[in-house]
Amino acid sequence: MEKNALNIVDERTQASYVIPIYKRTVRAMDLRQIKTGAEDFGLMTYDPAFLNTASCQSAITYIDGDKGILRYRGYPIDQLAEKCTFLEVAYLLLFGELPTESQLIDWIDNITHHTMIHETTKRFLEGFRYNAHPMGMFISTVAALSTVYPESRNVHDAEVRLHQIHRLIGKVPTIAAYTYRHSLGFPYVYPDNDLGYAENFMNMLWKMVEPKYHANPVLARALDILFILHADHEQNCSTNVMRAVGSAQADPFLCTAAAAAALSGPLHGGANEEVLRMLAEIGSKDRVPAYIANIKAGHGKLMGFGHRVYKNYDPRAKIIKWAADQVFQTTGKNPKLEIALELERIALEDDYFIKRKLYPNVDFYSGIIYQALGFKPEMFTVLFAIPRTVGWLAQWQEMLEDPEQKIARPRQIYTGHDAREFVPIEKRGV
Ligand code: ACO
Repeated sequence: MEKNALNIVDERTQASYVIPIYKRTVRAMDLRQIKTGAEDFGLMTYDPAFLNTASCQSAITYIDGDKGILRYRGYPIDQLAEKCTFLEVAYLLLFGELPTESQLIDWIDNITHHTMIHETTKRFLEGFRYNAHPMGMFISTVAALSTVYPESRNVHDAEVRLHQIHRLIGKVPTIAAYTYRHSLGFPYVYPDNDLGYAENFMNMLWKMVEPKYHANPVLARALDILFILHADHEQNCSTNVMRAVGSAQADPFLCTAAAAAALSGPLHGGANEEVLRMLAEIGSKDRVPAYIANIKAGHGKLMGFGHRVYKNYDPRAKIIKWAADQVFQTTGKNPKLEIALELERIALEDDYFIKRKLYPNVDFYSGIIYQALGFKPEMFTVLFAIPRTVGWLAQWQEMLEDPEQKIARPRQIYTGHDAREFVPIEKRGV
């Protein structure tokens, strides 16, 4: 009897099957042999929303949701946030190892030399209405890069792929900053290659008439840390989209635009924008208990709370709280912080939240920092999309190099009509 296997008896036929267990999973295709007869298609699995299905094997990010652990390529997220720059972490995610000094210099140089966007792309951005949502502008402009770089569709050419990776990581802050300037009606600011990744982004956002932009180092470092925390999070909704669209061999600009579209949803990356709206709606600390009572009565969700995989404190939320302290020492306290802290305090003591293992997630505090840094809530998801582009690209590359991956194509349980005769329009009643 094989030890690392399941013994399954099909009560319909009394046939028995040995299904191997592979890395704590069974392969869904191994169930196909379980049939009631030659005409039977075979057994499938049913898992709406992928609650218990591994869609790939990945060596990039490890999460233990019960213990609140997050590691990139084996390194704990808190160590990376403390000791690395975002571009160093980006290299780690994409290539599997931390860069040597010379590798890092080359890497930074490559990214820095791809920060410009074409003037036609700039004009494309100018076509949006003055009040267009920055995330809609971001998604569309990233997709539009596909038309500028048609060679990017050669997704099986490693050299071409790397070139697009440099372009995407280099250009997403530029596009993000331009969406912001557009909404304010200010002229776009060209990238400054003397500056670091976060500093240059701040330069493109906030430079006015001064000849050289100087970022506040505390705020630039806080932004860089936020980028590190958001760089990857294994098979979440948008990453799944990146892999699914990439599996059809669409080019990386279109894949990234599709992933960013998924990220824009309020249950995913759009949640921090919702957190700020929620804090504004609550208005003051004394109104927190009534707000929580309303949520418990089934009216909506506490935004920034709960997570599909973390059933413990989100490790990123702890680091963000620390970064928030650093930022507030420079900018002064955000009045929303008081409401957020009270919300967290009460929710963490409340049976409803304890029983459901609902803890603050990364979005709970990130919005408050972003606001203190000077961003409007509409920009929050764009700020998430910049670093997550790195994670998407790492996952996309891994997917393309995985011999087991094919075009993503789930099955369904058909619940509609059996075959029926067509009814002409004159016989369909009034
Ligand atoms: N507030 C109140 N109740 C909640 C919350 C919340 N934020 N989240 C989950 N619950 C409740 C659900 O109503 C459900 O209760 P029930 O068992 O009585 O029906 C129970 O907790 C389990 O919730 P599910 O919806 O099954 O959890 P799921 O894993 O599907 O959802 C999600 C995870 C989408 C993140 C959810 O917790 C949520 O909507 N949170 C608010 C939005 C948010 O902050 N999203 C950001 C996620 S992090 C990220 O994407 C970067």
